[in-house]
Amino acid sequence: MEKFNVFDCSMVELDRHHSDRKGNLSVVENGLTLPFDVKRVYYLYDVPGGENRGAHAHKELSQLIIAASGSFTVTLDDGKCKRSFFLNRPYHGLYVKPGMWRDLEDFSSGAVCMVLASDVYKKEDYIRDYQEFIKFRNNL
Ligand code: TYD
Repeated sequence: MEKFNVFDCSMVELDRHHSDRKGNLSVVENGLTLPFDVKRVYYLYDVPGGENRGAHAHKELSQLIIAASGSFTVTLDDGKCKRSFFLNRPYHGLYVKPGMWRDLEDFSSGAVCMVLASDVYKKEDYIRDYQEFIKFRNNL
């Protein structure tokens, strides 16, 4: 398994088709936008003000996190460094490589956090204990 750090994770500018009269449309396409194929899409919504999500890491999963509506902050942690990203544009995606602890917070009212993932849901891919995460990173 490759050992990535938070500086390997970055904002991706998505394709944006603009029409003055009819609004905007953004596209994520397998083989073009990302270095992984999307096998699952899920989204968080109706997150109460002040509530946090995330607080886990994935061993192998890659993700693209998009603020489809509203805004929130994603903080990535590789066990040594942390980086925070403010997501507030539906045409920006945060590409999260495997092995990152993530905390999502400061959800605006009506925020929709859309996640495009490289694999189906696998409970065993999650690390939900921070000390276990640090051990996992040290063994990579
Ligand atoms: P969780 O990953 O803990 O959400 P968050 O990181 O946003 O706080 O998931 C919350 C619940 O939803 C948990 O019981 C697992 C379930 N879930 C699925 O069944 N399938 C999925 O694809 C995801 C992402 C979560």
